Amino acid sequence: MDYAKFVDQQIASLRETVGSGLAINALSGGVDSSVVTALGHRALGDRLKTVFIDNALMREGEPQRVVQTFAAMGIPVELVDARDEFLAALRGLTDPEDKRNAITGTFYSKVFGRLVRQTGARFLLHGTILTDIEETVAGIKRQHNVLAQLGINTEEQFGYTVLEPIIQLRKPAVRIVAKAMGLPPEIFKRPPFPGPALAARVIGEVTPERAELVRKATVIVEAELKRNAKGAFQYFAILHPDKVTGLRNGKRDYGWQIEVRCWDSKDARIGSPTKLPWSVLMKLSKRLTTEVPGVVSVTYNIATKPPSTIEAV
Ligand code: XMP
Repeated sequence: MDYAKFVDQQIASLRETVGSGLAINALSGGVDSSVVTALGHRALGDRLKTVFIDNALMREGEPQRVVQTFAAMGIPVELVDARDEFLAALRGLTDPEDKRNAITGTFYSKVFGRLVRQTGARFLLHGTILTDIEETVAGIKRQHNVLAQLGINTEEQFGYTVLEPIIQLRKPAVRIVAKAMGLPPEIFKRPPFPGPALAARVIGEVTPERAELVRKATVIVEAELKRNAKGAFQYFAILHPDKVTGLRNGKRDYGWQIEVRCWDSKDARIGSPTKLPWSVLMKLSKRLTTEVPGVVSVTYNIATKPPSTIEAV
């Protein structure tokens, strides 16, 4: 594939479709939405408004970091604080698909719908890729960003047209395009992070406290495995819903369980657990049980995908 030509074609096509109108897009900092942001800005300049929606489920410091990265490239990104709305929509939900639906609904019809109305944008640029479609159509997992494929008419339901400039690409190609467009390595090399964010890693109800717990655990798992699992595809922490009995300072302690997952995979369609050294696992266990309040149990997932999936929710 001629990537430079692909970039030129997508820019021309965005210009033609949007015409003199306004477009909006949401940036998460992942490689997909980053490429779409860069394409959109090259095509439309300040007729594209880019927002980062803080949904209370991002990793430590992530909203600010993403905004800064793009500011350094001359692309302004507005940080929108929608934390309360997302947390309210998730309250009381435990079923994975209900949680995903709540996030999709809050994102598109509430927060985005409002932003679109405020800006008058008729077009929404979206970083859907081929794998999202394949997994959704196969009924494996409903990716939050697949709408048309589910028969959802965004024009009728939400009042805007969705444009998907990288829908023909799989992840490796998106990374090549990102690099070709001059995006920094922290973007084109960034491990995947799911659309539902930390909600995909909290089994059971997502409360502010439980999101904070998994956020703290994520900092530790990412720091340790960045150093010690260099070839891995993806690694993260999951918070289990049930408490288990533990023992701390000679006293019974009823506390949380963190599951660590670290995957070897090419494209997330199949995967197997990374053979981590015992010393690395022990270090993770030590840090998670001492640095994350209330954690008394740490497990490492040793199942393959399938039958497991990469994320837990
Ligand atoms: P699963 O858990 O389905 O994950 O084996 C496959 C890959 O996709 C990521 N993932 C998502 N990405 N929206 C996304 O954009 C989602 O809803 C979503 N769910 C999972 C996951 O992190 C893995 O890389």
